[in-house]
Amino acid sequence: MPGVTGDHYFTAEPATAAQPREVEFSVAGRDYTLASAAGVFSADRLDPGTAVLLRKAQLPAADAAGPLLDVGCGFGPITCVLATCAPAATVWAVDVNQRARDLTAANAARVGVADRVRVVAPDDVPAEVRFAQIWSNPPIRIGKGELHELLLRWLPRLAPDGVAWLVVAKHLGGDSLQRWLVEQGWQVERHASQKGYRVLRVTR
Ligand SMILES: C[S@@+](CC[C@H](N)C(=O)[O-])C[C@H]1O[C@@H](n2cnc3c(N)ncnc32)[C@H](O)[C@@H]1O
Repeated sequence: MPGVTGDHYFTAEPATAAQPREVEFSVAGRDYTLASAAGVFSADRLDPGTAVLLRKAQLPAADAAGPLLDVGCGFGPITCVLATCAPAATVWAVDVNQRARDLTAANAARVGVADRVRVVAPDDVPAEVRFAQIWSNPPIRIGKGELHELLLRWLPRLAPDGVAWLVVAKHLGGDSLQRWLVEQGWQVERHASQKGYRVLRVTR
């Protein structure tokens, strides 16, 4: 998604002026108004894939202990929903894009969950943390090799009975990603399919 400066949404330090804005959406009967900015993924609206994920996947229960992980948090919609649904859980949010991390931290404060949300660069997640749930609308556009590397980095950090929820557009390879995950030894269920998006439920 190049902008005038050549930024991609996964640029580490977007050069584009931030041009702050707000994104409104509702999930599970709750309304969210989050801060967004140029230089991050889907800056002007809740991404339709993320919307399908949050509508179709099984959101964490109110007593979910966590920790939960949002891989590629962008401006933080998934993180904010997870932290709101699971008020006892810590949510880790990782992204390579500094502006995305800053927005996620600001949005966690907006929705009153900042005390339980850890927004960090991928290398700054402590090695010993294992996740009860991993959520991601993964960055398909970084390329297949890097996407596979990303998934092979984070999925092994699921707790033994953990579950990962992924959303991938069918036209961007949702079905081949499912096959590849199965080849890697993961149990993968196509939990839902809507508007051209596959919601995958991944377990050990
Ligand atoms: C498809 S976007 C989803 C953003 C957000 N979760 C949402 O639903 O709007 C994927 C995100 O992954 C980030 N990303 C790209 N490469 C990454 C990597 N290696 N590790 C973590 N995040 C990465 C991008 O910067 C982008 O914010």
